Amino acid sequence: GAPLRVALLGCGVVGSSVARMLLEQADDLAARAGAPLELVGIAVRRPGRPRPDVPVDPSLFTTDADELVTRADVVIEVIGGIDPARGLILRAMEHGASVVSANKALLAEDGPTLFEAAARHGVDLYYEAAVAGAIPILRPVQESLAGDHVRKVMGIVNGTTNFVLDKMDVSGAGFAETVEQAQALGYAEADPTADVEGFDAAAKAAILASMAFHTRVSSADVHREGITEVTAADIRAARENDCVVKLLAICERVTADGTDAVSVRVHPAMVPRSHPLASVREAFNAVFVEAEAAGELMFYGRGAGGDPTASAVLGDVVAVARHRVAGGRGPGESAYADLPVVDMGRA
Ligand code: HSE
Repeated sequence: GAPLRVALLGCGVVGSSVARMLLEQADDLAARAGAPLELVGIAVRRPGRPRPDVPVDPSLFTTDADELVTRADVVIEVIGGIDPARGLILRAMEHGASVVSANKALLAEDGPTLFEAAARHGVDLYYEAAVAGAIPILRPVQESLAGDHVRKVMGIVNGTTNFVLDKMDVSGAGFAETVEQAQALGYAEADPTADVEGFDAAAKAAILASMAFHTRVSSADVHREGITEVTAADIRAARENDCVVKLLAICERVTADGTDAVSVRVHPAMVPRSHPLASVREAFNAVFVEAEAAGELMFYGRGAGGDPTASAVLGDVVAVARHRVAGGRGPGESAYADLPVVDMGRA
């Protein structure tokens, strides 16, 4: 087919890997997509900055993201945060582009605005990379399990907190000291609030619940407790009971006042060492799914990092490119139920 024009918004850790893989794997990607994928621009704040790991023609860098999105068939958004990402995605769709995003905060806060725009303009919005990085989990729960009935999704979806809790378990050290070590090793950010307070996991839980239960859950609906109050004594007590402490995102179908509802919560939990989630060490992620007919499933892998996240992004790029080559769009938002979300605390 005719080449598809691809625009990249953001060139940080994930964007750099995406750009490099788009070029290095151009032939394979073209074969899988059914058309060559031509990188037409990369929107960045500082176009002059040296980027030795991004081997592209320097003239591709631009600060004018508003203009760039008007001349693309596929826009990849890896800027993160609510604004300007939201406006750029909407503008891209208005100009007929399909969008691939890794933006969990935006999807969890304002997904419906984006889904409606995608439907109105007949374009795709895919965001596999927004939850659990490299792990294919959103399309499996939304599409592969669409013929089943998902009862519960339980995930370790934040690598930073899993790394901290795992180190506390191994060393017996306290929370503050372990976060400092994690920062020194590059596992925790200088400002670890979004991770340790559970905001990142809550956004991912909202997206997971929306996909698994075909309904709409936003981050504000999620009961959230982080790991800042977890002490060395808590970890020791868990150990004495043959458990580990994990920050879990739990999405569950429940009955409230006689009607179907969902409960979505993020909090530290005691996990028996015999449970598959207990074996998830360091900064790895995993999602455990219970479906009526399928039974128990577990998805495991890297939840962050340039190349792992780029793997999920490029999988989406190939998917949306195929739809464009075929002249249509893929499955959009899967909301058919509008289930109430109940806060059952730690339930
Ligand atoms: N801060 C996230 C984590 C990165 O620690 O898992 C990927 O969303």
